[in-house]
Amino acid sequence: MVTVGIDALEIHTGKLALDLGETFAPAQGEDPDKYRKGLGLYSSSFPDAHEDIVTMGANAAYRLLKRKGLEPADIGRIDVATESAFDNSKPVSTYIAGCLEQVFDSNFHHANKGERKFACIAGTQSLDDAYNWIRAGRNRGRSALVIATDTALYARGDAGEATQGAGAVAMLISEDPSLLELSPEQGFGSADETDFLKPNQQFPSVDGKRSVQVYLARMREALSDFESVSGSMHPDDFAYVPFHTPFPGMVRKAALLGYRHIIRETPIEAELASEIGRQPRPEAFDDESTYLEAVREYTDELKTTDRYQQWYEAAIEPTLSISRSVGNWYTGSVHIARASALKHAAETDRQLTGKRLLVASYGSGAQAEIHAETVQSGWQEEIESLTIDEQLDKRHDISFEEYERIHDVHNHDLSASDVDSFTEPADEFIFDGWGEMGERQYTYAE
Ligand code: HMG
Repeated sequence: MVTVGIDALEIHTGKLALDLGETFAPAQGEDPDKYRKGLGLYSSSFPDAHEDIVTMGANAAYRLLKRKGLEPADIGRIDVATESAFDNSKPVSTYIAGCLEQVFDSNFHHANKGERKFACIAGTQSLDDAYNWIRAGRNRGRSALVIATDTALYARGDAGEATQGAGAVAMLISEDPSLLELSPEQGFGSADETDFLKPNQQFPSVDGKRSVQVYLARMREALSDFESVSGSMHPDDFAYVPFHTPFPGMVRKAALLGYRHIIRETPIEAELASEIGRQPRPEAFDDESTYLEAVREYTDELKTTDRYQQWYEAAIEPTLSISRSVGNWYTGSVHIARASALKHAAETDRQLTGKRLLVASYGSGAQAEIHAETVQSGWQEEIESLTIDEQLDKRHDISFEEYERIHDVHNHDLSASDVDSFTEPADEFIFDGWGEMGERQYTYAE
């Protein structure tokens, strides 16, 4: 059977940075440690005035196609995952293809284009669609371009404001991929939830505290469902476990839950028993609340064990590095977690070919998905081509007053147009004003 997976990827960060400890915290009257230690975030990325989901996605896709030496004829489908779309009919992929056609001599008229929506999990669902298209043999040797692009803004004053972010991840899905093979096995946890939604509005209605609990509940279901097809797992089966990362503090909670789940009935649970006892089993309790209290106590103890902490440092912490500097990218979030992990492996000379990742995606509303990925022999070269560190270094730091202005620029109800860009556009697609039918227009700035 032909292998299918991620052949290459590119990341584009919004070009502005808001320092959460230095700039945001004082304006909120909050302790900087709430953001740095509590949420685990140092700064957020924002799009400059000339950027939006189309330019960020097109810039990532263009770099990817150029670096791989590909032409439009090599691409059979373009799927964009986003929850920041500004058009209820025309998909963002058509806008992005239009941008790319300005710089290529040929067009994408032959490519099937679409847009995927299910909160943050839509990026992973688009990978699925591309995988299935290739597996079904409908791709005629061509690759799929999957672009996860979002400007994750909350209403001013919302508790989620600290977790904002903006950027795009472009991924090439191909036969015989150089980077990662995707497993056919998947696990799902999916339920009708109303913890985070945007009913015909740009900024989310969100019950933040409940959204954390819903994330954990759906993730637990997805893990059980994945185990039902993969067989029981051992934490050492996976070099890294990238999670959807709305903020690193969320992953701290999810990783602990995942570890507890995976070690149940394994020698690890038995080895830890002399230190912290065995995990509580529901049948040993008269009622659910006493059982859940015992689980909480066990989990608190588990977190303090050397064994858990060593696993966390090796398999989870490296997945958080980009997220700490950029915030939540919604559909792109789990994909920058995976990229952070692979970057860490390249930077520490870790031999990764043939090793596996467990990738845990999530979208509010709500659904979690878990699958495995096997690292392919071209991974190091691919990851060393990423320019994300340079992009992060070049971001323009904004003051709080500048942040307020740029939030207005990207607020669809205000679309404040009297704000000049903070950075000088060069070699990139830029937003160029509105056309006669209310469409957003773009050009390539040399
Ligand atoms: P909050 O009420 O501002 O923060 O909102 P808090 O008071 O809960 O504090 C946050 C953490 O910082 C806590 O840690 C505090 O203890 C700690 P925890 O107890 O949770 O481990 N803390 C400190 N630590 C050290 N020093 C200090 C300090 N002060 C406090 N001085 C909340 C937090 C997450 C609710 C908010 O940011 C929010 O509403 N965010 C948006 C929703 C969200 O991100 N939910 C995550 C799960 S849902 C999801 O991931 C889907 C999503 O990506 C959307 C999609 O799918 O499309 C959001």
